[in-house]
Amino acid sequence: MEPLLQAAGGLNMTSPAYITGARALCDEFGVLLIFDEVATGFGRTGKLFAADHAGVTPDIMVLSKGLTGGYLGHAATLATDRVHNAFIGDTPQHAFMHGPTFMGNPLACRVALESLRVFEEENYLGKIATLSQQLQRELLEDQALNAHPPWPTYASSAPPPSLKPNLPRH
Ligand SMILES: Cc1ncc(COP(=O)(O)O)c(C=O)c1O
Repeated sequence: MEPLLQAAGGLNMTSPAYITGARALCDEFGVLLIFDEVATGFGRTGKLFAADHAGVTPDIMVLSKGLTGGYLGHAATLATDRVHNAFIGDTPQHAFMHGPTFMGNPLACRVALESLRVFEEENYLGKIATLSQQLQRELLEDQALNAHPPWPTYASSAPPPSLKPNLPRH
């Protein structure tokens, strides 16, 4: 799952409690919890990872985009020691037999390391906090935005209004 923000599926928000609940359910039924933090990682929800809002650690985590700041295509799959150790072995029964063509590309890894260095040394999480406070303040103060009628909720049985523009008929 994408924690906190299902970005690719329509920007659907979930609460940190939902993430905590998912962790509890996975623990109860012995299921691995996988977080896709491709879109949410590296400060995009205000913390380093969206999972940090709930203090939850997944068993597997997928990273990309922010890993290189977009300068080069690169992705990483992280796993806990427990998952990692389950696939260590010299036999096909134990070893995780996989071989992506571009696995461990040295140039992409170097770019990722440099991007992470800049992210840390230039305090991007601090910059994001300042920007988000400013954005929140200005949006709350924006008179035109405040005058806008609230977006209706569709909990009632009434059909949602058409979002099509009112075009002239010919
Ligand atoms: C949530 C999410 N997961 C995975 C991907 C795939 O990322 P990549 O192609 O960099 O591996 C994307 C790409 O947009 C994404 O938004």
